[in-house]
Amino acid sequence: MASQNISSQYTEEELLDMARKFSFRSRMDRNAVSGPIMVWGRGSVVRDINGKEYLDFNSGQMCAALGHNHPRIVQALQESAETLIHSHMSMFNDREIILASRMAEISPPGMNRSMFLTSGSDSNEAAMAIARRYTGGYEVASPAVSFHGMNDSTRAVTFSGWHEGYGPYAPGNYTMFAPYRYRCNFCKERPSCDFSCLNASFELLDAQAAGQLAAVITEPLFSAGGVIDLPEGWLQELKKKCEERGALLIVDEAQTGLAKLGTMWAFEQEGVVPDIFTVSKHFGGGIAISAAVTTDEIEEKVGATGLVVGHSHSNDPLPSNVAIASIEIILEEVLVDVAKKIGSYWRAHLEELAQRHSIIGDIRGRGLLQGIELVEDRVTKEPAYQAGEQIGRICLDNGLIMSVRRRGSVFRFVPPFTTTEDQMDLAADILDHAFRQVTGAS
Ligand SMILES: Cc1ncc(COP(=O)(O)O)c(C=O)c1O
Repeated sequence: MASQNISSQYTEEELLDMARKFSFRSRMDRNAVSGPIMVWGRGSVVRDINGKEYLDFNSGQMCAALGHNHPRIVQALQESAETLIHSHMSMFNDREIILASRMAEISPPGMNRSMFLTSGSDSNEAAMAIARRYTGGYEVASPAVSFHGMNDSTRAVTFSGWHEGYGPYAPGNYTMFAPYRYRCNFCKERPSCDFSCLNASFELLDAQAAGQLAAVITEPLFSAGGVIDLPEGWLQELKKKCEERGALLIVDEAQTGLAKLGTMWAFEQEGVVPDIFTVSKHFGGGIAISAAVTTDEIEEKVGATGLVVGHSHSNDPLPSNVAIASIEIILEEVLVDVAKKIGSYWRAHLEELAQRHSIIGDIRGRGLLQGIELVEDRVTKEPAYQAGEQIGRICLDNGLIMSVRRRGSVFRFVPPFTTTEDQMDLAADILDHAFRQVTGAS
């Protein structure tokens, strides 16, 4: 890709030396201190300190899906810099109130109440706290491939990885069988999911429960777990089973919400309205803000019983102002349609690549969140861990950033809404080249 030199106080090597001395290695996917070191971004492109450009098909950490440094987000930041950046957490500020009313406009009827926090983990922790106060129970269950964050309470219900080695969690966190169609042992002989996984999960949950189940928390498409779509009707069945037990359904829309899958919320596509949903990632257009959204009735009850959830930066005016701007962008630029358009163009590329490369065993996802699963053999479905890691490295060297999941066997693509057809053509070429190099396919 075209490159442009960036003037900087330090060279890459100098910064890496400093990182080796001063930075804490606790990154999710890479524990080595190595480049690239990013310094600049616009739209779907980021640039490293050496001036090399990359197509960012991971949208940063999925938080820049509106495009890096969107001008309307920059404008909102400037407005806040001139008015109020931070405010007393227990006093209202104008921005958070306006944002709460905008959230109600884009949420299902009756889901009018939002609280604003900082990270996806915070919002899920808050959602579980709300469910506990509302139901009087404390137990929470989540599918084995779901990801909900890395604070202690959300790590406790994150079973897609990063779970072991942090000491005992609070009691009452349970895992459920994952509806992972491509590798499901319950229904591999059946034409579709018959919810055997859910029936078995609830048989175990009912047996284990010490009392009232407070909630089930799930993603509506398991992203970090391997871009795994829900089988048709699965979320409806889950909601029914929660209702039968007086438990709340929490849907975590961190990765899937705000137009990414071609609707404002992914749960709409499943025909389900959850009791609580959470949103983060590109909600702030690159600035940290998250929300937990629920009904008037649930807010009324937990508010009246004195629920307190908050941090120093909860409801801050600056992130609230950028989130207002991000909702405006999503509505004005009709991003639900953009997601569908980008999604079908990129899907055609993935299908074409699968025709040429038998290492691609499965293609999944929708809109701006799609993935491929790599296998040694399409019949045995043995995961192609090593080849995947190698292909991922070659793609990065050649200017394509994507997320490599499931120990190398799943590639996840999250191109920003700003991505052009030319950029997708280029990304497909980079992938094609890397597949050829590693598998030797002609
Ligand atoms: C579905 C989902 N929920 C929650 C989180 C946690 O968000 P955060 O990293 O902002 O705490 C993530 C992060 O990737 C996520 O993918």
